[in-house]
Amino acid sequence: MNRLIIVSNRTPGKDPAAGGLAVALRKTLADRNGFWFGWSGKLTEKPSPDAMFENIDGLSVGRIDLTRDDHHAYYAGFSNSILWPSFHLRLDLATIEAPWYEGYRRVNAQFAKALLPHLQPDDVIWVHDYHLIPLATELRALGARNRIGFYLHIPFPTTDALYAIPHHNELMRDLARYDIVGLQANRDVIAFTDFADNQSPSSLADGPLEAVDFSRTEVAAFPIGSDPDAFARLATSPAANKMIKRMQRFLDDQRLLIGVDRLDYSKGLPQRVEAYEKLLANNAHLRRLVHLLQVAPPSRDTIKEYQETSDALDAMCGRVMGRFAEPDWAPLTYVKRAYGQPSLAGLFRLARVGLVTPLRDGMNLVAHEYVAAQNPDNPGVLVLSRFAGAAEIFPEALLVNPFDTDETAEALRLALEMGLDERKQRWQALMDAARHYSIDNWAQNFLARLNPAGAQGGGGPDRDFLYLASVA
Ligand code: F6P
Repeated sequence: MNRLIIVSNRTPGKDPAAGGLAVALRKTLADRNGFWFGWSGKLTEKPSPDAMFENIDGLSVGRIDLTRDDHHAYYAGFSNSILWPSFHLRLDLATIEAPWYEGYRRVNAQFAKALLPHLQPDDVIWVHDYHLIPLATELRALGARNRIGFYLHIPFPTTDALYAIPHHNELMRDLARYDIVGLQANRDVIAFTDFADNQSPSSLADGPLEAVDFSRTEVAAFPIGSDPDAFARLATSPAANKMIKRMQRFLDDQRLLIGVDRLDYSKGLPQRVEAYEKLLANNAHLRRLVHLLQVAPPSRDTIKEYQETSDALDAMCGRVMGRFAEPDWAPLTYVKRAYGQPSLAGLFRLARVGLVTPLRDGMNLVAHEYVAAQNPDNPGVLVLSRFAGAAEIFPEALLVNPFDTDETAEALRLALEMGLDERKQRWQALMDAARHYSIDNWAQNFLARLNPAGAQGGGGPDRDFLYLASVA
């Protein structure tokens, strides 16, 4: 089997990285030869031309350092202040600074130069996420002829939002240098196809533009998943039980509603707390009987828009506490720190309602994990945003429009009052989907497409997974 090279901004380290990407891919690479390549997490005065390789728990990981200025332009700047808000349709939160694009390209070129000496001709390269869109262009410019695939972990923007990104045409040309572009959901493939079929004729800065040729790139949806059976086992592990007992003592007979999200404006956290406020305002009988736990580890907190989201959430939680708390009852707990997987699995299992209500999201693996952690004999209810990629595979969740806090409040009431039979029925369908769209199937399907000759079992990808775009 060909070696697999995974490239991403963050690499797996001794401490678990924030977010689902590292957790998801570690297992895939452990089953194959090859290595993981990315940024070391270190900032230096001078760029480091060579990668340092290390063995981390049996995984070979190659890393490069970045200079402080390059990292700022590439990560906080172009990736997270331009691409992230635009891809999440928050153009109002985008900041456009011209030098950031040069830094973004410089870092991608540095990745390519440091990676090239470690490549063998038949290696298959799998590049992850919006930080590294130009990597195939840079590798090909250095002579790499390998099969290269790209997977986007965030939503693909609508054409208008894409046009608002400086150099969007070059970025689309970069995507056309991949053999395959994998997206999370059908809605993303539709948005991509819309751009490919109706390309902008010109821009003031660049004049008339030549249409991007996507004829050699396959574009398809590969919904990412989790390892639901492993997560289910985790939810009954001693560490999870310890957390469950601790929480049960605190909750007494109150029903728990839970949200676990990086502190990011795309997650719709103030809207979620407002919906909870409306639940308590409209249903006085539920006060003292319910408790919301929101876990929100800070993220990208050097960026102003993230600090503002944190402040907005502080204010919203304070408002709900001031309005409803009593000396011996608090309506919510808000925790700004990360917890390990076993503790989270226990909390998910205990919670009657799992709240996953982003304003826009790639897939959202918290939705998968909440489902996997449930007790099959007494499962909780998933309240899910229709704007998360997960909504396409989890129609049996209570789907809500997170901008409509009245609707979300009503969904919370329905979830809290739902009878056991309906909860079991919905949960079984969700768990079946979580198993079908597991992380193993996801990786196998993507790799079967990227490297048909080396596909395990030789059967090719599962057609159920694919929504293929007709871009030409
Ligand atoms: O969801 C997109 C994503 O980039 C993930 O791939 C990543 O795990 C998460 O956001 C965390 O982001 P960051 O690396 O900026 O902390």
